[in-house]
Amino acid sequence: MGSFYISTPIYYVNDLPHIGHIYTTVVADVVSRYRRFIGDDVFFLTGTDEHCQSIMKAAEKLGIEPREQADRVVSRYHEIWKTLDITHDDFVRTTQPRHRQAVEAIVARIEASGDFYVDKHEGWYCSSCESFYTEKELLPGNRCPTHETDCEWQSEENVFFRLSKYQDRLLELYAGDPPFVVPESRANEVRSFVEGGLKDISVSRAGLPWGIPFPGRDNEVIYVWLDALTNYLTALGLGSDDTSKLERYWHDDGIRINMIGKDILRFHAIWWPAFLMSAGLPVPSTVAIHGWWLRDNKKVSKTVGNIVRPDALIERFGPDVLRYYLLRDMVFGQDAGFSDEAFVDRYNSDLANDLGNTVSRLVKLTRSIFDGKTPPESCNNNPIIAAAATAVSQYHEGMQSFEYSKALAALWKLLSEVNQYLVAREPWKTVKTEGPSEGVSRVLWNSLEGVRIVTTALAPVMPSTAARILEAIGAGAVPMERAALEWGRLPLDQPLPELEPFFPRVDRKAFLSGDEIDEPAPPKQKAKPSRQPAAEESDMITIDKFFETKLRIATIKSAERIENTDKLLKLTVDVGEDEDRTLVAGIAESYEADALVGRQVAVVANLKPAKLRGVESQGMVLAASVDGKPVLLSPDNPVPNGTPVK
Ligand code: MSP
Repeated sequence: MGSFYISTPIYYVNDLPHIGHIYTTVVADVVSRYRRFIGDDVFFLTGTDEHCQSIMKAAEKLGIEPREQADRVVSRYHEIWKTLDITHDDFVRTTQPRHRQAVEAIVARIEASGDFYVDKHEGWYCSSCESFYTEKELLPGNRCPTHETDCEWQSEENVFFRLSKYQDRLLELYAGDPPFVVPESRANEVRSFVEGGLKDISVSRAGLPWGIPFPGRDNEVIYVWLDALTNYLTALGLGSDDTSKLERYWHDDGIRINMIGKDILRFHAIWWPAFLMSAGLPVPSTVAIHGWWLRDNKKVSKTVGNIVRPDALIERFGPDVLRYYLLRDMVFGQDAGFSDEAFVDRYNSDLANDLGNTVSRLVKLTRSIFDGKTPPESCNNNPIIAAAATAVSQYHEGMQSFEYSKALAALWKLLSEVNQYLVAREPWKTVKTEGPSEGVSRVLWNSLEGVRIVTTALAPVMPSTAARILEAIGAGAVPMERAALEWGRLPLDQPLPELEPFFPRVDRKAFLSGDEIDEPAPPKQKAKPSRQPAAEESDMITIDKFFETKLRIATIKSAERIENTDKLLKLTVDVGEDEDRTLVAGIAESYEADALVGRQVAVVANLKPAKLRGVESQGMVLAASVDGKPVLLSPDNPVPNGTPVK
């Protein structure tokens, strides 16, 4: 049994999780589940990066402590990981005392190597990346190459780390086999960057109240990337009395993967191994780099403003479908475009058609022929056996070499071979002449066995679906041993439960128009009652009637007093749509315009636009009315704009 360590990056808590964050975590979860299945001793880590400047700024805006702001966002991460069935073994927050201990330990080790010195530091700084850029790297107008936002000129005396000293050792590391950085294109990028010459980097920041104090430096905190990278060892006990996990998972014989997106390649492939070399600790065995999820050809990100939040998709399709889509539609290492069209097409073709239909068809046929049971005869000589062996070996290869889309394609190829085999043998016809013969039994058993192998291999990607299908085909619970992918394990004469539908086809048009997800069917027109109902009864409305009003959460982006009025404010709000809306709200007597900016409120989103004092209002803000004075309604925690209120 090998030891297998895998981590996601730790996520900044200035943002709620979006599709890009979810991708790495889902992939790392799939890999962890796969590794447990083949018998490895797995440690899977994720967490949050909380000492960034943006959280300090966000907290200041809201008038709360940074830690409180962090707590609010972190709870959303916990929720979404639970919803997505993520099986991490630990969750590090960089504000935890154990993390501070680990960072102090690594700093002490680097100090002991003589790799710190003090010098003056200045340059262009992007506070979203928490990184300096050279003028050559900047976009015109001193803008960040990743976020395309303005960088700030910063100048101060800092502690420096002798990164340049590690240039040769890093190049040696990149020349090793298996490769330190995957995929190869990224490895080449890093190698040529390092060959171009490394400069020492500053690892302290002056005058920031938020961060881990730099030992021995008054008024300076540890640079957030040295702080954040160390999380990978915090969870293993670096700096604590108990180092058993370090010994178990962070040793030269085990697999140690840091999985990240391409924007943070340099920090992980250059700085992190150099810090570890200096600290006398083993480096990761692989830094695995994936590409970006794009929308309209731009990186999905809060800063760019083209966020894809998965909540509605998970609610509509369940976590497994999203997990499958993410793994299947992105070739690990390359960028991929996210679109609802691609999502629903993938669902209909791979899941509704290939997987769902095959299972339904087979189970129904088998139940009807063999009295509600799996077939009584198995078979060890048929074309599916070789097809399954090929698929399983390609699947293992893909799962172990970051080629998840290929691994899934191999399984789908097997599904298609099962279908072709069924079409060629036509057991539904043969049974009419032969009855439940040995031949019919073998054809159906072979096909079910093919599906069993596909489904067992699919379990790390679609855990709940795999459990349901295996039960439906009489194969029992999801097995936890590699040998379960060998031919011949489907039990004979096993009762087959009544089939529940798998992956019903989705009406593409209705889905894409949005009609299908949020809106319940329009209420039916009822005939007018012949007499007025009793007073209490007439006050009641049906749930359908209530849902005719679309209530949504929106963030106020700007607010200004409408001229010549005491009461009216003109608000620009983000309701999670392509364009912001203008609302007119009669709240000026109770709320200052400026204080409203950034605040989330509930709004009626399907009100007919109306002009008030010459301004068209495209909705209405909700408020409790206390003696005629408005008190705004806001969600308890920040939620994505456009979230329905039910
Ligand atoms: N806090 C740092 C990481 C520190 S690790 C020691 C950070 N956080 S982040 O929240 O901004 O990004 C976390 C991860 O999400 C990164 O790997 C980044 O590549 C990934 N993604 C963010 N947007 C993305 C896409 N649109 N597509 C795919 N992944 C991208 O960086």
